[in-house]
Amino acid sequence: MRTVFWENNELKMIDQRILPARFEVLSYRGHKEVAHAITDMVVRGAPAIGAAAAFGLALAGYESASTSTEGLIADLKASAAVLKASRPTAVNLAWAVDRLMRVAEKMKDERNADTVRAAILTEAQNLADEDVAINKRMAEHGAALINDGDTIIHHCNTGALATVDWGTALGVIRTAHEQGKKIHVLVDETRPRLQGARLTAWELEQYGIPYEIISDNMSGYFLKAGKAQKVFFGADRVAANGDVANKIGTYMLSLAAKDNNVPAYAVVPTSTVDLSLAHGGLIPIEERNTDEVLGIQFQGEPIAPKNAKARNPAFDVTPNRLLSGIVTENGVVYPPFDVNLKKVVKE
Ligand code: MRU
Repeated sequence: MRTVFWENNELKMIDQRILPARFEVLSYRGHKEVAHAITDMVVRGAPAIGAAAAFGLALAGYESASTSTEGLIADLKASAAVLKASRPTAVNLAWAVDRLMRVAEKMKDERNADTVRAAILTEAQNLADEDVAINKRMAEHGAALINDGDTIIHHCNTGALATVDWGTALGVIRTAHEQGKKIHVLVDETRPRLQGARLTAWELEQYGIPYEIISDNMSGYFLKAGKAQKVFFGADRVAANGDVANKIGTYMLSLAAKDNNVPAYAVVPTSTVDLSLAHGGLIPIEERNTDEVLGIQFQGEPIAPKNAKARNPAFDVTPNRLLSGIVTENGVVYPPFDVNLKKVVKE
């Protein structure tokens, strides 16, 4: 089953807030509800939210009462803005919405508005199907970097749940496992929302890949002790110079990897690369509600005093100098990233 899919004129999405306790699929008929589901992280992971927003815009087409193509495009523009505002860091969201808007705008002279509605739904479906194919290509390129017997530290969730299907960094691990390589995964729990402990561990169970969960602050220990040979993660946005915004904690993990000469790879579809931003300092970083940090319990009790304050940036930027390579569907990009990244994105 896909994480995000269209069925019976509805968008369906696996509810990632409640996994692994329960597996439920929710249905959506309106773009505002889809935008809310993205903000609330029913669906999360850069490519998955891109696909969700694409189908959300297709829903907006059917919500619009306009009988003219001009009116429909005006309604779609307003809905596109709502969807794009749902989360700021992952560029795939704006990329997907803009791709669908281009299809609609090219059809501005079409007399039948329903033809435009159908065309954007088809484009959303194409985008979702392409995501799976791209992930599998990335996985082949990335799996070549993994040796039999490797222990890999993985951050956040980058699997089928973070994409339409298969995954980015976890897709690489999955393909290496299918190739018969014996690998072990140290799963960063990924505070505060625990995408590693909840979602990556759940996926690894489905695939039969051996793993152990570690708290985020343990990775330096394992890297220094020579107990991990590779580090893999995804990204929400990659700047033109190869700086990578990814789930909070990626920067510290990459620093520890670099200090111990352990290669660290980001695995990203080229739709995650934002060549319009010269460096990672320009990437908008989402600050989420601090309830995510303070709401966790320890032995049935709140983890902090009642009036405690907290901070909650959801992403950080890893400077390109800490990365050994960036795996894309068009191959593995090596430094100098400012020169080499452009070549694969243009392809
Ligand atoms: O806040 P999330 O769970 O949406 O963050 C997801 C990540 O940081 C992933 O690593 C990233 O989207 C790339 S994985 C496809």
